[in-house]
Amino acid sequence: MSHKIVVLGIFVADAAYRADRLPRLGETILGQHFMLGPGGKGSNQSVAAARAGGDVHIITRLGQDAFAAMARDLWKDAGVVPEVTEDPDSYTGSAFIFLEAATGQNAIIVAQGAAARISVADVEARRPLIEGAAVFMTQLEQPLDAAQHGLEIARNAGVRTILNPAPAAALTDQMLALCDLITPNESEAEGLTGVTVTTFTDAEAAADRLIERGVGAAIITLGAKGVLYRKDGHSLHVPARAPGPVVDTTGAGDAFNGGLAVALSQGASMQDALGFGAAVAGISVTRHGAASSMPSRAEVDAFLRGH
Ligand code: RIB
Ligand code: NA
Repeated sequence: MSHKIVVLGIFVADAAYRADRLPRLGETILGQHFMLGPGGKGSNQSVAAARAGGDVHIITRLGQDAFAAMARDLWKDAGVVPEVTEDPDSYTGSAFIFLEAATGQNAIIVAQGAAARISVADVEARRPLIEGAAVFMTQLEQPLDAAQHGLEIARNAGVRTILNPAPAAALTDQMLALCDLITPNESEAEGLTGVTVTTFTDAEAAADRLIERGVGAAIITLGAKGVLYRKDGHSLHVPARAPGPVVDTTGAGDAFNGGLAVALSQGASMQDALGFGAAVAGISVTRHGAASSMPSRAEVDAFLRGH
């Protein structure tokens, strides 16, 4: 049986600035720290999954520049197999990340560059790879039609599909019906359902709404409150737990999705897969950066054992 995880998604270089607050328009303020490192939700999820023991391929598009080299080095180091369309007419994207010093919370602007040109044809070219996977996972940073095509190929081949609907976008019922699992955070869940998510009961209502619209099951990620899984009127809840102080939540959702995908690709129960994803996310928030903060399998196992 295949354990392969195929991710369709984007890489960008994260330029992260830590400061007390965002500047106002026309204002310059001094920051506290700068870090340039690998980001992009699809790449972060791939790296999280590979470091945590998954057999991972990423389908994406890059320019031919220094940030493309950063992506290739990252994937080589993490053991992610790149399925890259090189685009000489564009550039590898980057993200502006504002980190609020007091809370570790962030605000992000993503310029996708070449990844905004990921096409249905790019995905179609990897049809056999997707059809041979255990899990196909995607997000919404690349064009919707490409994401939908990947989900269709996977669904038709009986491959488990996971959609992390980030950043928030309106989705058709047709798209939702292709998802075995959808993993929005609170605000994405609200955008998709109109249900304001603050409590577990709200999360259950939003999840039920997504299931009515066609997804197989929903996992609402609730930040410090953990994650809530919902299917057929039943819920599972896994609390968030970190091994140390929270310094940077950038990529925490990606860490969760990557961990979840690995556990599911290796045949874990949903309860265990949620716990594994939460552990990967919990470790990642204690470290700076997005992809750079993803833990190894040994670290996740030790944390889960309580060491
Ligand atoms: O999910 C976090 C990621 O979102 C960051 O790495 C940034 O690149 C944005 O794409
Ligand atoms: Na982090």
